[in-house]
Amino acid sequence: MHIQVIQGALQETSADAIVVNLFEGVTTPGGATGAVDRALGGQISELIQQGDFRGKRKEVTVLYTRGALPAPRVILVGLGKAEAFTLEGVREAAALAVQQARKLGVTSLATLVHGAGVGGLDPQAAAEATVEGSLLGLYRFTEFKTTDEENHKPDLETLLLVEFDAAKLDAMRAGAQTGEILASATNFARDLINRPANVATPSHLAAEAQRIAAETGLRCTVLTPEEMETIGMHLLLSVARGSHEPARFIILEHNAERTDLPTVALVGKAITFDTGGISLKPAEGMEAMRSDMSGGAAVLGAMYAVARLNLPLRVIGLVPATENMPGGRATKPGDIVRSLKGLTVEIINTDAEGRLILADALTYAGRFNPKAMVDIATLTGACVIALGHAAAGVMGDDELVNKLRAAGERSGDRVWPLPLFEDYKEQIKSDLADLKNVGGRPGGALTAGMFLKQFVPDGIVWAHVDMAGMGLEEKGRPHVPKGGAGYGVRLFVDLLRNWRE
Ligand code: BES
Ligand code: ZN
Ligand code: ZN
Repeated sequence: MHIQVIQGALQETSADAIVVNLFEGVTTPGGATGAVDRALGGQISELIQQGDFRGKRKEVTVLYTRGALPAPRVILVGLGKAEAFTLEGVREAAALAVQQARKLGVTSLATLVHGAGVGGLDPQAAAEATVEGSLLGLYRFTEFKTTDEENHKPDLETLLLVEFDAAKLDAMRAGAQTGEILASATNFARDLINRPANVATPSHLAAEAQRIAAETGLRCTVLTPEEMETIGMHLLLSVARGSHEPARFIILEHNAERTDLPTVALVGKAITFDTGGISLKPAEGMEAMRSDMSGGAAVLGAMYAVARLNLPLRVIGLVPATENMPGGRATKPGDIVRSLKGLTVEIINTDAEGRLILADALTYAGRFNPKAMVDIATLTGACVIALGHAAAGVMGDDELVNKLRAAGERSGDRVWPLPLFEDYKEQIKSDLADLKNVGGRPGGALTAGMFLKQFVPDGIVWAHVDMAGMGLEEKGRPHVPKGGAGYGVRLFVDLLRNWRE
């Protein structure tokens, strides 16, 4: 899609439809919405007076201009109460408008920048969120639909952001560009998640990593099982044993040679399908476990955006990727395996596999000597019980946890802190080995976090994001359609854009 920021009056812009907005409780619209209202002889005011449009969040309606404006249609979206309005409201409004446009079959759309006028938001941030929300809202996964009618409708071809105040244009252009990068990176992650496990194998993820590396200049290295064996990544290999698909350890580096820059490592769990292994999961709903690579997808998507934004940091993305399958050679409950770090682990439950592959990846991340590492994973059902689908859990060093909280609020990829009390360590002590991989039902998300902590190299600031409740969007929200959510990409990019030592 072609996206452009232009100077002008929205009501005078030619397009198949123009988009305006309204806060709840406003009786006389102002700004671009007011100008459109006047040009339409007060039609929008009339809608408000009649109580037919209240400006509630997620409210949308279409008006026809019948020759009064160059554009034949006006899409009006509600923004909710002005006091509660944030960038997330901009993303939602933008997504709803483009979805309405697509329903109408229009191919060119002109929109105001939601929140930049009456909303009082920073023009650059508002333009970024308008483009981001539009592209996130238009996302759909159709790779395997051969007969779907919807597929043959033309998609939106042009999106114009129209701003009257010339002084805001430069900032809005910069914002629009960033918004495009954030949304493309998130949609890239969504594609990886939505692809079924027979397509999105560990080798497929590695090939996609090499593709984005070739496009952006990232350095990409992929370790094979033989190479993992040589260096002693036995926890990762223990998870891969039941599978016929070879495991991959994907390494992406931004500013690889710039060891003078602050270095941050991102680590993402990529179990391309989690059957549970010998500790087999029940059949019902198991298909959702193709999304058990969402953490890895978040890291790949974030690295793609980091490279395109050319952030002034050295960023390392690590993605341990494997299936978790039962099989004649699969790891058995009670098996003891030596980690890359040297600690031995008694594998009580083969379904607690995410922490095993992450443990070796966290150890490996130490080679890059980062200031900080953050891992992200669809790690525990317990975290879903704790927080539902409203936020990911975050554990680890306070300052980094706080940075992630702020990044979550700004980006909309919300995280919420959970504790890592020393007490949880008791639960993962093994009689036979240094550690066991499960700590029983109580505090399941926290014992998983405590397990990971044992593998963080000394002196490195670390946080763990458990996104088990956030990988798949179940109902569909305006800018997060049903399916792979692409959660974490924008969280990480926001964290890194605002990185201060
Ligand atoms: N991938 C699952 C966790 C998960 C659950 C992700 C629901 C998304 C939605 C993970 O590998 C797992 O199976 N965890 C077990 C751990 C238990 C055996 C200690 C769990 O949470 O039940
Ligand atoms: Zn599992
Ligand atoms: Zn899993």
